[in-house]
Amino acid sequence: MEPYAPVAEQYADFARWSRDESPCFSQWAAGVAEDPDVLALLSQLPQVKQQPNLVFAAARWHGVPAPGPYSGLRDALIGDDGTIRATVLSRSTQTNEVGRLATLTPAFAAIAGGAPLALIEVGASAGLCLYPDRYTYAWSTEAGPVTSGQGPRLECEVAGGFPQRMSVPRVEWRAGIDLNPLSVTDDDAMAWLANLVWPEQDDRRERLRVAVEVARADPPALVAGDLLTELPALVERAAGQIGPAGRVVVFHSAVIAYLETDDRVRFHEMMTDLVERRRCHWVSNEGPRVLPQVSASGPSEPDGQASFAMGVDGQLVAWTHGHGRSMTWLAPSVDAA
Ligand SMILES: C[S@@+](CC[C@H](N)C(=O)[O-])C[C@H]1O[C@@H](n2cnc3c(N)ncnc32)[C@H](O)[C@@H]1O
Repeated sequence: MEPYAPVAEQYADFARWSRDESPCFSQWAAGVAEDPDVLALLSQLPQVKQQPNLVFAAARWHGVPAPGPYSGLRDALIGDDGTIRATVLSRSTQTNEVGRLATLTPAFAAIAGGAPLALIEVGASAGLCLYPDRYTYAWSTEAGPVTSGQGPRLECEVAGGFPQRMSVPRVEWRAGIDLNPLSVTDDDAMAWLANLVWPEQDDRRERLRVAVEVARADPPALVAGDLLTELPALVERAAGQIGPAGRVVVFHSAVIAYLETDDRVRFHEMMTDLVERRRCHWVSNEGPRVLPQVSASGPSEPDGQASFAMGVDGQLVAWTHGHGRSMTWLAPSVDAA
């Protein structure tokens, strides 16, 4: 999603994007896109706060039933005494989707090649994606099932020449950066994360519950701050921790869309520089228009899929489902040791 697009366009886009996975949110978004009164109301919010995911989550937080009709949302927004607006202003869409690990982990494995990793996630939210080594992956590939790892199971449908052997890498050090890190031990913050999961997606709510348990057993180190300013020092810390035998990997998913265009360019330049100076590897997993140079560095997006472009060191390696349910693997079919 593009949080800086005009508000009617954002909602019309969201209605299309969410159609298969949340009929309720798709109807709500289509309703807003054609409702001048609600559009006028939303236009008064700061631009980054106008997003459907945030507005809908705030409405649900204050009791609007979902699944439920558009009229429930409309009445609540039009009649709001400031309560929903206050939640929109004070909270963020920090959706932390551990299912994305099923698409990120093959990239981590390809980089690791058997070496241990120091992982840094920028835009980590509660840091739930910092534990790729604590899950079992079941990739259904064109050549048959590929399974690896231990812990709760994450499943992913894979098209393309996916490696038939895959070892989940060892993670010896992990840390994240977020403007507003959420603590896995904070029940209110975890309830907000659950509230961000789309209404019909009970499987995602259950996965989130399990992921919070996994992280609570060993809570992540999260730095509060802007990724553009905090990252270089954290990369150096990670390099010192892992030593020359290991590899530092910076990764992010569904984060860079929140940066304004100039900052997206600055981020791309900063990562390119860090990679060129061999300070770290870089795994990006973002909407196709967010880091356009990465998206354009390989074959175009498969038709009709809700896709992120996944890159390794700036080169496209896969098109991935936004919540990790499926992927088209583009990188050569080299078995990750
Ligand atoms: C949609 S969440 C994604 C969380 C996680 N990456 C995942 O895939 O589950 C986006 C996160 O990026 C964070 N974020 C946005 N802009 C940021 C910035 N400039 N610096 C650090 N974090 C940022 C937000 O606070 C939020 O937690």
